[in-house]
Order: sequence, then structure tokens, then C-alpha cells
Amino acid sequence: MNNSRSQSGENTLRNDKQIDDLLAKMTLEEKAGQMNQVGSSKSDITDLIKTGRIGSILSIKDVKKINHFQQIAVQQSRLGIPLLIGNDVIHGYQTLFPIPLAQACSWNLELVEKAARIAATEALREGTSWIYAPMIDIARDPRWGRVAEGAGEDVFLAGQIARANVRGTQRAEDAGKHKVAACPKHFVAYGAAEAGKDYNTVDISERTLRDIYLPPFQAAFAEGAYSVMVSFNEIAGIPSTANRFLLRTILRDELGFTGVAISDYYAIGELLAHGLASDMREAALKSIQAGIDIDMVSDAYIDYLPELVRSGAVDEKLVDEAVRRILVLKQKLGLFENFHMEPAAEISTDTKEYRETALQLACESIVLLKNEGALLPLRPDQKKVALIGPLGKDKASLLGCWKCSGSADRVESLYEGLSAVMTSEPEFVEGCHVLNKESASFKQAIAIAKKAEVIILAIGETDAMSGEAHSRAHLGLPGRQQELVEAIHALGKPVIAVLMSGRPLVTPWIAEHIPAIIQAWHGGDRAGRAIAEILCGRANPSGKLVLSIPRSEGQIPVYYAHKNTGRPATGKGTTQFEEPFRSNYLDIPNSPQFPFGHGLSYTTFAYNDLEIKTPSLTAVENLIVTVHLSNTGARPGIETAQLYVQDLVGNITRPVKELKAFQRVALSPGEQKTIRFEVPASTLGFHDIQMRYQTEPGDFKVWVGPNSAEGLEEKFTIMAKRAAFQI
Ligand code: BGC
Repeated sequence: MNNSRSQSGENTLRNDKQIDDLLAKMTLEEKAGQMNQVGSSKSDITDLIKTGRIGSILSIKDVKKINHFQQIAVQQSRLGIPLLIGNDVIHGYQTLFPIPLAQACSWNLELVEKAARIAATEALREGTSWIYAPMIDIARDPRWGRVAEGAGEDVFLAGQIARANVRGTQRAEDAGKHKVAACPKHFVAYGAAEAGKDYNTVDISERTLRDIYLPPFQAAFAEGAYSVMVSFNEIAGIPSTANRFLLRTILRDELGFTGVAISDYYAIGELLAHGLASDMREAALKSIQAGIDIDMVSDAYIDYLPELVRSGAVDEKLVDEAVRRILVLKQKLGLFENFHMEPAAEISTDTKEYRETALQLACESIVLLKNEGALLPLRPDQKKVALIGPLGKDKASLLGCWKCSGSADRVESLYEGLSAVMTSEPEFVEGCHVLNKESASFKQAIAIAKKAEVIILAIGETDAMSGEAHSRAHLGLPGRQQELVEAIHALGKPVIAVLMSGRPLVTPWIAEHIPAIIQAWHGGDRAGRAIAEILCGRANPSGKLVLSIPRSEGQIPVYYAHKNTGRPATGKGTTQFEEPFRSNYLDIPNSPQFPFGHGLSYTTFAYNDLEIKTPSLTAVENLIVTVHLSNTGARPGIETAQLYVQDLVGNITRPVKELKAFQRVALSPGEQKTIRFEVPASTLGFHDIQMRYQTEPGDFKVWVGPNSAEGLEEKFTIMAKRAAFQI
């Protein structure tokens, strides 16, 4: 028996009633099957599909195999329910874009959305229906390797980027036949892992949870994300996988999320190691009670759910709710209508557009950190350029931490990029390896540098040094790279450092001594070309940091939206013994090396005439602010103007600054524009002493400027009620 299965094997399921009818026909084993996800290497997969014991498959990218499995599910299983095919498409499928941390530095929401749509389109054409992205964990600890996968430290920006990614992913389609589900992850506060170690304990207050870690998820749900992935970590002693308060009270009741909640990889099984369950049966029990709909690869649901229901330990209603959500998802994605995916080769793919988008995003992700004496840009006909460093010809590292179906063959190295953009090829030598301390070409590097007029250093981390389970305690340049940089600097020639990494590196010596520094991250397929275009001024840098760069690992976490404390350090930073009994260090300033929002251009911008159009307003009105922004340099450029506020007195303490709006503005030389910001006062709130979200009446400061440390300052007041004489 099946539901209106057509002769071709297609299975239609169009409305709620049909879903209810299908649910009514299912045995407990078939229900547990829908809630069971297996890895693609599972040995008895075909039999499990035939007997309805699998609802989804993880990490399979072969479209022929996917179509084969779908055919078995739809045509040979009793109820003919198609499978969900889930993959980690984090920053590209075949066309690799910069890592998400880098993409966020573009602050270009349309472009991030476009990249997500391209990635999802490529994935869909190879049979993927479910994408485990975006990762929207706020991350303020660059030791954590997964900072590479997110949008950085800021709540507002992360929410905007989350929305752009969900939009892009869920708007991908193949001539209207199928859609892709986004899966924002990891719910929640995974980025708050103690000491930056992956999977580590999290212990944060409920207010921090609500004000910092939940808002990006709210944003993703507001954008219509079809699913969510639950995080590995515990919060205050309860792993998210078994946390009813998180998954039922907050996720379902408060946020009203109706999509599918999937566990992270083997996270139900990991409840044993957490010490929260004594066996897999108990782990399954606690997870279904908490609200996990799909068990990712731990087999706990398929093995124990039927018995747990039969014994009365689990109310079948919980299982039915989960299965219903899964069937609705399959219906929304068009899988019941048509499970067959056209192999990519049979569809024309505009790869030119994809590669151009990858180049534009790679360019816009790059952050010019320092440019003393306008050393950059170089002239394209600059002679005697030496490219030195282990990442100069490296392609694989530029792909970044989630390669998916990408390939190093498609990547343009920095050497290739420079050779294409400059009139003559640079002379290249590695100098040293990234990790390995031995180096055959150190001396040769010095010899080549001696003959050069300008030296470009290609240094940083390999792709394998960030991402999941790739945390680092020391964030300096690994291997002998620092030694190489110092030896080359000692020659007294113009030196440009190009930092390629999956996280902010801690390189205070370079920040002080090297005149020009470019943070190029791991920029994907077109990274080398993008860096070369920036170095030679074909593109003007516009990226701005989304994660503060520390001066020292000892400052971590260092982020701009910190609290003032009762003994704030005053001035621009705190040096040794100058300010005793303040919240500071004896040995280094409080400020980061480079602040959140920082990023230079080859032109200059001036901010003038900040005007508050609404000096007093109520919590239901909009704050309206204008500022004049002008391009005071000689090149066209793009500036991201940032608006920050501070709520001066609250019934709980508030951060010293919070980003509430930004605008990317393109200006020609000499051009001036009036920028107008409209910020709903309702977004200036927080969870108060009674844990209610509200915008409190009172005085605020507002800044508009080029980064979190600079800007024009003004004030406004939020009133309890508008005074009677005002309309
Ligand atoms: C990661 C997730 C990922 C999942 C499936 C886990 O280890 O934490 O981000 O989506 O594996 O590959």
C-alpha cells in the first residue's frame, strides 16, 4: 500500500490530511525509521531502506547512487517515503567560496546570499536536499577552530548573515522541482566552549543565552529556515541533545519553530560519555523527551524507540509529532512529488557566473589591516617582486576547512594570481613550511629577497588548522614562519604580509613592524586572484573585521561589546602600572590589536555632521540618524558605515557598545552622501531583571563610524511615553 504512488514511482503527498493518513498507516518501526539518519557508509543500507528503517542519509554526493536509494525507498519500501539527503555545504559545493568568517567580513548581504544560493544549487543538482548550514554560533574565542565557519563575534551582524544564508540556500531550485532546506546550527551556544576547545563545556547565564546566542537563531527562523541542528555542548550541566528547556520551552514554545530538529553527529550516543545516560536506551529516552526529531547516526532511535513507546516510557504523541515534522519537510522540498534528481551534467550550469561571484566575494572578504606610507597598492608593472612563504603556491589550503566537492585543481594560487595580474611573474620561494620546522629553502628565500624591490609574504595556516576539532592554544604563525618574516624584515626592504588563515592570528610583531598587512583568510577557488587584484589595486579593499584580532592569547575573549565593569580602564588602552586597581593587565593594553569593524581602503573616508533626528523617542518608534560620508581620497571605494549604541543605565548592566545597523556605501573620489539610518527602538532592548525582553526608557549614546573603536558620538533618550504636547 502506498499514497497515490504514480506508475513512474513518483509519490504525491500534497496536504495535511494526506500526511495524517500516511502517519496513521505507519508502524512504530517505520516511525522510528523516519527519525533515523545513517551515514552513507552504513553496510546494510539497501535493506534498511526497503524495510523503512532509514529516513535520511548523511554525506552522500553521488547523484546516481542517491537516485538509486531514492528509487528503493519510494518503489520498494512499504510506504514509499522518499529520503532526505543531508550534506555539509558550508562555503560552497563545487565552487568554493571564502570560509564563512571571511564572507562575513564583506558585510555584503546580497553577495553572501548569492554565494549560498549557488552552493545550494550545485548541491541540489547532485541530489542534496538538506544543507547543514549556516553555522550561526557567535564565537569570541579564536582558539576555537570553528570560528572559521561562523560570522564572528557580533549578535546583530551574525543575525543578518544568518538570514542571508537561509534565504540563499532555500531559494535554490531546479526548475521548480525541488528545494533545499537550510539547517542553522548549532543550537545553541556551542561557540561559548570553555578555553576554545571544541565540544567543551559551556556554562553561561540564561540572559547571555537569550541576548547573545539565541538572536541569530531567531533571525534564521524568521527567514523561514526549515530545520535546525542541536549542539554537542552542555549548558549548565545539560547537554543540548537532552535539554527540554532549550528544545521545547525555548525552541518550540517561545520561538514558535515548527521545523525539524536534528541531533549533531552521534550526539545521542554521546550522552553516555557526558554521564547523562547509562545506556543507549536511556539516551534515546532523554533525547526524544527533550525534542530531538532525528538521530544523526547513533542508531539509538531505531534500536530503542519502538520498545520505549510500547513499554509506556515514551508517549507515542512525541514520536508522531517528530515524524509529522519530517514528512512535512519532505513534502515542502518536493520529494514526494518527484524524488529523482537530474544529474548536473544534464543541466546547463553557468559556471562562469559562479566563478565570478567567487572572485567578487573573495575580494570583498579581504581586510586591509595596515598600509603604512601607502605602500599598497603596487603598480601592476612593479619590477622585481619576490613572493616568499609557504602559502605562495599552496592551493589546497585556500579551499578552507570544509572542502565539500571542491578541488585544489580549481584554485588559483597567489603565485598564479600575481602572474595573471602583474606584467611579470614574481620570483617565488617557499622559505619554510607552515608546520614542519625543517626547511631547505630558508637561505634561498633571503637571497631572493635581497635582490627584490618589494617582498610579498604568503604566510599563515593550512586548511587543516581550523574547522571542527581543530583548536589551537598558540595563535602565532606556526613553524618557522615568524623567523622567516623577521629575517626578511631585517633586510630593510618594503614588505607586505598576506595572512591566510581560518581565524585571526596573534601576530603583534608583524602588526608593529611590517608596514602593509592584508588579512586574506582562506578565500576559496579564486583566493589567489582576489589577493593579487587587491595587491595591485585592481580592486580596492572594503572588508571589515567581524572578529577582533587579539594582541595576545591571554586577552581572549576580547570583543568590543564587553561590559564596562565597576572599574573600567580609561583612555585608549592600559599600559603597565599606569592605572592601578582598574580592570586591566599589567603588561598589555585592554584593546585588541585590530578592533571589530576595522578595515582600511586605498581611499579615505570622512564622517561629518552626525545628526539625531529623533533625540527623544518611545520604544515603539524608530531612531533616525543621519551622517555625511565623503570619499576624501583619490580612488572610488566602498565604506561600511557602522552604527553602535550604548544604553547608559539599565536594570541590568549593558555592553559599552552594540552594533545596531550598518550600510555599505560606494563613493567616487570627492563624492559625499548623506547616510540615513532607521533603527527600530524595539531592537535596542535586552532581557531585563525579570528575564523579559524590553527596551528600557533612558539615555543612550550613539556612534556612527568606520569601526567599533572610532566614530562620531551623539545622544538620544528613550522615553516611557511621549509627552502630551508632542504628537
Ligand atoms: C558537526 C556538524 C556537521 C555534522 C555532520 C558534526 O561533527 O558538528 O556541524 O553538520 O558533523 O557532518
